[in-house]
Amino acid sequence: MLSKTKIDYRISLIIFIVALLLTVFCQVVDFPLIIPLLMLILGGHLFFQRQADYKMYLHLSLLLILIVFTAHAIREYTDFSLLYVPVASVAMLTILLFNDLQLAFFMSFSSSILVSLVWGGDLKVMLVFFIGSLTASYTVCDARTRGRLIAAGFYVSIMQVVCMALMNPDIHYLITKEFALDILRPLFINGFISAFVVVATLKIFELLFGVLTNFSLMELSDFNQPLLKRMILEAPGTYHHSIVVSNLAEAAADAIGANSMLCRVGAYYHDIGKMEKAEYFTENQLVGSNKHDNIEPSISRLVILNHVKEGIELAKKNKLNPLIVDFIPQHHGTSLMHYFYQKALEEAEEDASIGEENYRYPGPKPQKRETAIVLLADSVEAATRSIDEANPQKIEEVVRKIINNKFIDGQLDECNITLKEIELIALTFTRILGAMYHSRIKYPEKKSTHDDRSEKSTEESSDNPSQDHQDRKESSK
Ligand SMILES: [Fe+2]
Ligand SMILES: [Fe+2]
Repeated sequence: MLSKTKIDYRISLIIFIVALLLTVFCQVVDFPLIIPLLMLILGGHLFFQRQADYKMYLHLSLLLILIVFTAHAIREYTDFSLLYVPVASVAMLTILLFNDLQLAFFMSFSSSILVSLVWGGDLKVMLVFFIGSLTASYTVCDARTRGRLIAAGFYVSIMQVVCMALMNPDIHYLITKEFALDILRPLFINGFISAFVVVATLKIFELLFGVLTNFSLMELSDFNQPLLKRMILEAPGTYHHSIVVSNLAEAAADAIGANSMLCRVGAYYHDIGKMEKAEYFTENQLVGSNKHDNIEPSISRLVILNHVKEGIELAKKNKLNPLIVDFIPQHHGTSLMHYFYQKALEEAEEDASIGEENYRYPGPKPQKRETAIVLLADSVEAATRSIDEANPQKIEEVVRKIINNKFIDGQLDECNITLKEIELIALTFTRILGAMYHSRIKYPEKKSTHDDRSEKSTEESSDNPSQDHQDRKESSK
């Protein structure tokens, strides 16, 4: 509570200082004072929505200040028309950098009004830029290729031209050469300039703001990335597990409107720490060989816990973005390692006390919907692997049990996921896993009893929460 008050105080102070500096600046260069007022409203929006910290406020302010200065520079130092100012690029950058339509709407409104004010406050121009920026926000949303950005620029051009034409009721003026060359031509070119500005500056803003766009996520999802390449060679089972988790997580994120690309890439890297001791994890073990059979539960606990610690170190060493690193500790939250905890209880001396907290992951719990989705996908993938003769009913039962258990255990307490979204996630997991297991062909050979037992024992001794499934089976009895 105390730290929250401190953060709020800091945000308020920064908003006030930015507004004050801008007021002084606007007085000096004779800009309308609406600029600092809009900055204050932006700060208030972020403050009351509690969706951002002071860094986001500064980043958005910087985008607005840059477009105002561009408009000012074009007016003062060139003969170009105001209609060439790439206002839509602000909305495009906002949506690509922050993936937030509400913010993009606000930035569209602010940038359009500010630029038109710098040029004398033409309402028609303001509306044209506003509609162009809104078009940019919607068409560039979820873009993963440069082609989409150029296409968005084209749509902006068309919308701006149409909007300007509709706002001039005089049909005779609309068909004049003057209107076509002085008004429509710059507005048409403007959309493309906006798109090119975004293509040229996106990487710079991404590095400056420390955020991840879909373009960088695409680069990180390339299996030629050193960490992923190493995982394929050293921990093929973990690689396969990560692929299935990423498919589940991406589909679930799409279903609830979360960042699906971030989920996919986060899932690729969530278990990279297993590479250090791959043979201690179920998915990399051969049937019948379980390293944990010969060691104390307390040692197994350390080995399993270490995959999180080593994963974070490995990620930092390879300079992975902190947003991806978050998936490593948060995909387990503070879950209990049921299997080893039970084993420790069984093997403990009568008077020895085995603290449950010692067998829990250190956390933190998922802080975002995306990390929560990967936590659920990870657990569900592990649990459904151990289903004998999987069918849609069994899969749905396991998916719901796993998700309910994580919810009851409080693992979803710190992220803003709703019950409705959890239901959509469960339905998506059931659908995808149902399709995956449906296509499997059952071999006619019957496995020996020994193999069956070994396989089950190995499955339960991994870090993955298939133990949860087993545990709930027991608890539901
Ligand atoms: Fe893990
Ligand atoms: Fe995992």
